[in-house]
Amino acid sequence: MNAKEITAKYLKFYESKQHATISSVSLIPENDPTVLFTTAGMHPLVPFLLGQPHPRGKKLANVQKCLRTDDIDEVGDGCHHTFFFMLGNWSLGDYFKKEAIEMSWEFLTSPKWLGMPKEKIAVTCFGGDKDAPKDEESAKVWVSLGVPKECIFFNGKKDNWWGPAGQTGPCGPDTEMFYYTGRQDCACDQHGCGPGCHCGKWVEIWNDVFMEYNKTKDGKFEKLKQQNVDTGMGLERVAAVMQNAPSDYETELFKPLTDWLKKNVKRQDVKSMRIIADHLRAAVFVLADDKGVAPSNVEHGYILRRLIRRAIRHAHGLGVEGRFCKKLAEIVVKIYGDEWLELKRNQAFVYSELEKEEQRFAETLERGLHEFEKIFAQANGKLSGEHAFLLYQSYGFPLEMTVELAKEKKGSVDEKAFAAALEKHQELSRESCKQKFSSGLADYSEKTVALHTATHLLQAALRQVVGTHVQQKGSNITPERLRFDFTHGEKMTAEQIKKVEELANKWIAEGIAVNRKEESLAEAQKEGALAFFAAKYDEKVSVYTIGSASKEVCTGPHVDNTSRLGKFKILKEEAVSAGVRRIKAVLEH
Ligand code: ALA
Repeated sequence: MNAKEITAKYLKFYESKQHATISSVSLIPENDPTVLFTTAGMHPLVPFLLGQPHPRGKKLANVQKCLRTDDIDEVGDGCHHTFFFMLGNWSLGDYFKKEAIEMSWEFLTSPKWLGMPKEKIAVTCFGGDKDAPKDEESAKVWVSLGVPKECIFFNGKKDNWWGPAGQTGPCGPDTEMFYYTGRQDCACDQHGCGPGCHCGKWVEIWNDVFMEYNKTKDGKFEKLKQQNVDTGMGLERVAAVMQNAPSDYETELFKPLTDWLKKNVKRQDVKSMRIIADHLRAAVFVLADDKGVAPSNVEHGYILRRLIRRAIRHAHGLGVEGRFCKKLAEIVVKIYGDEWLELKRNQAFVYSELEKEEQRFAETLERGLHEFEKIFAQANGKLSGEHAFLLYQSYGFPLEMTVELAKEKKGSVDEKAFAAALEKHQELSRESCKQKFSSGLADYSEKTVALHTATHLLQAALRQVVGTHVQQKGSNITPERLRFDFTHGEKMTAEQIKKVEELANKWIAEGIAVNRKEESLAEAQKEGALAFFAAKYDEKVSVYTIGSASKEVCTGPHVDNTSRLGKFKILKEEAVSAGVRRIKAVLEH
């Protein structure tokens, strides 16, 4: 069974259980500035896990593109990836443990669906701690389904608790399903070997999280308003299981990439070839995202740069000759382009950015490696922060690459001192280092939500005062202030700023109700609702209307009446880039 068939079965199964299929969102989260990339399918659903009604209902399923760098050191084994596809289903305050587990089991083992042999599956549950009790309830459900007690293991938070995705937010105990692959490529002591052993014989395939807690800023776990389910199944791993493949890299999701590498390397090193395949696949999906991230030294761009440069470094080590990134990128587009249309839509950008980055790095890689060897010998394997900074600044070595190179030779790098050296440098060139942000709310506190509603008034006022060419380009909202980026070619006059403030404050003084309704994107647009991020919306969307002042497609949340906002005041209006301006504003009480 190939990955396409698995995905189709998965969505069909959950449709048969009354789940609405929602689309995969961008890899770069819209509403969460606490993380750089979408790391799980639950990410865009945070407001709904917290209680906001979802336009598609309480039961959802999808396949989501995800990117995580926390497992990057494990990439190279058979089943860890930076980029991967997650099959997920959710209950937003609907069903809970029993139904979630029963459905997972049915999908995995029923001959109508995946038909995995039951005896090859073991599960883990949360063992309990000061924050939450032992999850006997889940274990009981597993027993009722026929899973033998000796195949049910209990672990602490490290293994059986998921979330929050950022610093705060929904989270809870989880129960994980492992498949015994019996792969013999490990030196594991059979005795005591079980799920989570990391020997490669047991592979985690699915995680059912019971999100009934909210982690607060001060590290407390409070009960949420509703009991949610958030599950995630790794498509690459399930495909390998269903195909009885020796690793994820032998499935059709990777094979054309590893085949190309096998033919074009001088030294066959499985681990390095997997790293190259994984990282370039990830880079292609990031580059192809409609948000248009390019390699850089900050935030998303830096992660992307690290992935590409690490792939290049490994390819160099294997003796791949000439430029190769585009060739592998073309293979990625060929494997995935029919399903993930952004790959085809944005392929010119993907290839040109990869080629530029490869060119930039190729110019310094060889010399940088020589410099590294020299420094390493001089420093007796203990590189200082200044050494790492020199490699970073002059040869474009991401810190993580220098650390990896040092580790390979049993050396070390003073990473803290590197951070200090970098900071010193950034202070010196602060102006050129202004970090770009993606839009989103820092949290869902009253103040942040009020400022979010204020951005709608701001956009409406700008369109009246400055012109209807004004379109939101991004926003970033904390409890203290809002930042709002919009298209406009020149500096606003003092008069315009005053008018915008007056208009927003007039609407606030009028105490206008903020109303939400659900309709299709087409209907919303026909009624004149603003929807500048329309591409990511599912068919049914939430439309927020503030009297006759504003109508926008938005996931929320918002206050219920403008009278809650306080006095709107613009602190600053400045340029961000050609044709894009930024307003910083506050609500005074
Ligand atoms: N959010 C859960 C995970 O990523 C399902 O494992």
